Amino acid sequence: MQHTVTFPSGKTDYIFIKKDQPGNSSFEEVMLLYDKQHIVIITNEHIAKLYANLFRSYKILVVPAHENGKDLHAIESLAKQLLDMEAARDTLLIGIGGGVVTDITGFLAAVYMRGVSFGFVPTTLLGMADAAIGGKNGVNLGLNKNLLGTIRQPQFILYDVNFLQTLPNIEWSNGFAEIIKYGCIFDAELFAELEHNNIAYYKQDDAALLSLVERCVAWKNKTVIADEMETGVRKLLNFGHTAAHAIENLYELPHGKAVAIGMVIACMISEKVAGLGREDTARLKRLLQQYHLPVSLSINASKAMELLRMDKKRRNDMIDYIVLEKIGHAAIHSLPLTVIENALNEYASHN
Ligand SMILES: NC(=O)c1ccc[n+]([C@@H]2O[C@H](COP(=O)([O-])OP(=O)(O)OC[C@H]3O[C@@H](n4cnc5c(N)ncnc54)[C@H](O)[C@@H]3O)[C@@H](O)[C@H]2O)c1
Repeated sequence: MQHTVTFPSGKTDYIFIKKDQPGNSSFEEVMLLYDKQHIVIITNEHIAKLYANLFRSYKILVVPAHENGKDLHAIESLAKQLLDMEAARDTLLIGIGGGVVTDITGFLAAVYMRGVSFGFVPTTLLGMADAAIGGKNGVNLGLNKNLLGTIRQPQFILYDVNFLQTLPNIEWSNGFAEIIKYGCIFDAELFAELEHNNIAYYKQDDAALLSLVERCVAWKNKTVIADEMETGVRKLLNFGHTAAHAIENLYELPHGKAVAIGMVIACMISEKVAGLGREDTARLKRLLQQYHLPVSLSINASKAMELLRMDKKRRNDMIDYIVLEKIGHAAIHSLPLTVIENALNEYASHN
């Protein structure tokens, strides 16, 4: 069973598959809506192996399963392979995987022959709740996260929670980092629901999981429709990400873990500049730990600061930083870089 949701003024169809059919037959049915001749699947080596049967009748390109493979080399290599298979402007690229695969696919689709259509099938919780949505498709430049990128919306995003059956536990935790983020910035009720439950609950209750994912999709989609080019409200989605991006590649952390640490640092800053209560910071730390996410990490503040200076939200010595006023309410504050530097030093000295 499936239902398709096109949110008002959205450019993307969101197709949700309910898990009342065994196996992945419903995924195959949805794929029949698109012309197989023109489809090229892009996935990574893990997923290609795990789901070899499902993809057997499609043209498929496989990328390495690492964050450090999300770069221009990957784009060049994939573009050459598309050319070799004579892929033209009518090609439909379908990225099936986590955020690394969907970011690479979206970027490639934006530049190959000046743009081809694309769709996503997110297979991680983080991809479903966040990375696949909103059309930002970035690749890394050395240690600098997502420094090169495009904003271009996928034609469709297909949600099939069956894929999560093979998702390792650690990736469930990573996905919850972004879900907790929505609770922090927009939705105190969602935050409280998460406090009440745990990963085991969502793993065994598909309806609860799908409803959680749909709630995140709705928040992100609404924000993207209001501000696709990130000149205002979309910046709020970067809560925790400025510090996260500075430490993610430096310490080879999974994105979710880096975001967890980044949210803790953002709360320290929020206490100083936005009146966030200490009890709210404590609640966030407890919730992160409840979902097996880290709150402390030994960091080199000056190395992190070097990377943070290259953040896309910096203007001269100021940066647009996302702070919390309370759980469920975020704001954009233009802060001197010295405020962030002091917070990183303070964090480093306590962890
Ligand atoms: N474009 C955006 O708006 C946006 C938003 C958030 C994050 N991101 C990006 O997303 C990336 C992180 O995404 P992620 O957390 O999905 O990580 P990921 O893509 O690296 O996937 C994590 C791991 O899970 C494995 N995996 C994926 N699906 C699986 C499945 N169904 N079964 C078994 N294994 C599976 C992958 O092979 C990989 O080893 C980062 O690069 C981040 O910058 C982008």
